[in-house]
Amino acid sequence: MQAIVDALKATITRTNATDLQASFARDAGRFSSFSARFDDLLMDFSKCAVNDEIMALLEKLFTEGAVAEKREEMFAGKAINFTENRAVLHTALRNRSNTPVLVDGKDVMPDVNAVLDAMGKFADGVRSGTLNGATGKKITDVVNIGIGGSDLGPVMATLALAPFHDGPRAHFVSNVDGAHIADTLKLLDAETTLFIVASKTFTTIETMTNAATARAFIADKLGEEAVKCHFAAVSTALEKVAAFGIESDRIFGFWDWVGGRYSIWSAIGLPLMLAIGPENFGGFLDGAHAMDKHFRKAPVRENLPALLGLIGFYHRNVLDYPSRAILPYDQRLSRFPAYLQQLDMESNGKGVTIDGTPVEGQSGPVVWGEPGTNGQHAFYQLIHQGTSVIPAEFMVAAKGFEPNLRHQHELLIANCLAQSAALMKGRTLEEAKAQLLKSGMDEAKADHIAPHRVFSGNRPSITFVYDQLTPFALGRLIALYEHRVFVEGVLFRINSFDQWGVELGKELATGLLPVVQGKQGTDGQDASTAGLVKALLG
Ligand code: F6P
Repeated sequence: MQAIVDALKATITRTNATDLQASFARDAGRFSSFSARFDDLLMDFSKCAVNDEIMALLEKLFTEGAVAEKREEMFAGKAINFTENRAVLHTALRNRSNTPVLVDGKDVMPDVNAVLDAMGKFADGVRSGTLNGATGKKITDVVNIGIGGSDLGPVMATLALAPFHDGPRAHFVSNVDGAHIADTLKLLDAETTLFIVASKTFTTIETMTNAATARAFIADKLGEEAVKCHFAAVSTALEKVAAFGIESDRIFGFWDWVGGRYSIWSAIGLPLMLAIGPENFGGFLDGAHAMDKHFRKAPVRENLPALLGLIGFYHRNVLDYPSRAILPYDQRLSRFPAYLQQLDMESNGKGVTIDGTPVEGQSGPVVWGEPGTNGQHAFYQLIHQGTSVIPAEFMVAAKGFEPNLRHQHELLIANCLAQSAALMKGRTLEEAKAQLLKSGMDEAKADHIAPHRVFSGNRPSITFVYDQLTPFALGRLIALYEHRVFVEGVLFRINSFDQWGVELGKELATGLLPVVQGKQGTDGQDASTAGLVKALLG
């Protein structure tokens, strides 16, 4: 592997691959050589520092990294999350072909289908008004209480699929900050509100605390007996849910082989299903399944997740770019960067390889972003002229859902394409100076100002284009990024499916609670923590 990384570095230098302007000037066919399509989803990576030699080396990396073999292990239910001895089978949740998927010799598909069926019946009941609140009123508002993977997927997807939203209003409470639930409860009528407590473990302190507040809200307004009509739960820990007092026919299970950040396809997707209906939720699963099949079968040069993962690895570990910006030109994907932040950084933010040795080179990059065009008026300055190169990933639909606002969609597309072109083309000193002289500036002043208006260009980006953000398209897009994270994780030689790094802070918070409550002194705390406690408690 290291030999291929070294060969890539040498090839970049020898072929001057980072000079994108020269690459485009040399080769009129560059777009078709370095783009790939899966149905209406097009991935243009011609504005990255690639050429045929580099692509050949990346393909070699895919082979030598045994990505295909690991991919089959994942799909086959092998316990590739070995630190927790778990299979990684979010793909089974959207296995619309319904072929058997074995975990420890047992086909999981009957259980997957049974939960999906139960979710569908529950969602239909709530949406149609046959499953109502305790006073008989129809549910108008659903509040999902969860955090991390039990929040970000449903929030992101519900917003993304707003044009399909014909069910109750959706709200999401995640933060333990009481402000979050307080501000949400202010909007709600207890009689018409359903709470979904979503937690894989059903121990997460934020979720349990908010759930208790929500329970008290219902019990106060409608009486203790009403709780059963206003709560549902989603978890792998079914006994813990029962202990909370949620009726068994309102508990939707999933399994330890579904990682939290990969769980939107499971019962964690219930708020989405309530919003858009079971049929559209099915379309969402179909899209992801289509991407799964593509990932398993398409040759590397046509395989979108493989290409995205290889280029991601190349950017991070060969070109040493520390972060990547996710820039959807799709307002409804405004939470997609935050969703990918968990998916990518919780998966690939690791420092130890599968052998227990330190990672050589780098593992996952910092992932961040905002929708365009908003970001253009905020942080794009740094992407264009800052001292770090930040690969950008743009995405835009050919069609919006507002035919009467076509002009706005045209502006959106024009801006998206303009940004990737500007990043690639840049502006030379001569061009900058000529522009200033043309505007009437004198020679001396133009010489002084022009350097500030130079753009180096040659800044990499990938652009995704799709027809329209339907449930199918969204499912496909998320699955694409999931598999990208997988490919990169295999190449980094890490376990992408555990998250031990989040534990220490949780343990320390538990220990600090009595200190913050004033029940215990600061003995044993470090001087900074003790000083901060004192400042807060007075
Ligand atoms: O603390 C991190 C984490 O475990 C995530 O991996 C997970 O998505 C989130 O917390 C919520 O966990 P749970 O669904 O068990 O409440």
